[in-house]
Amino acid sequence: MLKIVVCVSGGGTNLQAIIDGIANGSITNTEIVGVISNNHGVKSLDRAKAAGIPAFTICPREFSERADFHKAFLDKLAELAPDLIVLAGFLVKIPEEMVSAYPGRIINIHPSLIPSFCGVGYYGLRVHERALERGVKVTGATVHFVNEGMDEGPIISQKAVNVLDGDTPEVLQRRVMEEAEWILLPRAIDDYANGRIRMENGRCVRKV
Ligand code: GAR
Repeated sequence: MLKIVVCVSGGGTNLQAIIDGIANGSITNTEIVGVISNNHGVKSLDRAKAAGIPAFTICPREFSERADFHKAFLDKLAELAPDLIVLAGFLVKIPEEMVSAYPGRIINIHPSLIPSFCGVGYYGLRVHERALERGVKVTGATVHFVNEGMDEGPIISQKAVNVLDGDTPEVLQRRVMEEAEWILLPRAIDDYANGRIRMENGRCVRKV
């Protein structure tokens, strides 16, 4: 049974897709052993609680040094001892020590077709605002393994989503979630849990 920790920052619709996927059997061989949020009072925490999953908040603002926040975060992860860490709308830069401590064992969902609209400053609704400003006709979502770079790790899967006339950032965000994110992320976890994907030599290797 793959033990996963899901890291979140806000609404937690991707967390919900994972919880639902485990409940309905589209994600197999997987257990969520903890949810970590960097913000108090967010809906993600209610979703975890409703599903009976231990949830923790580690808030950077409550530490005077960034290094202390990183230590608290890494200590909590070590305590939960996950096989895989899932960044599901976790809008905080993760410490480099975390990448080296869990090589090939961290995945992230990003709401664009990487390498478009990604990297420093591209997160959450901002990604969709920039996509609309640029006038792209197709956007989407990407699941990737996490390495030291920002949104630069090996790509696991991507799905395109059409941009429609009159889209607002909120409307586009919702369509990208519905048509791409909530499908791709549960599927990637199921693939990982069942040995169909892994990170090897900086690439995502898929067993067919
Ligand atoms: C999602 O769209 C996710 O792809 C994005 O934040 C949102 C969180 O929504 N992540 C990033 O932008 C990471 N760079 P959720 O809390 O409802 O899952």
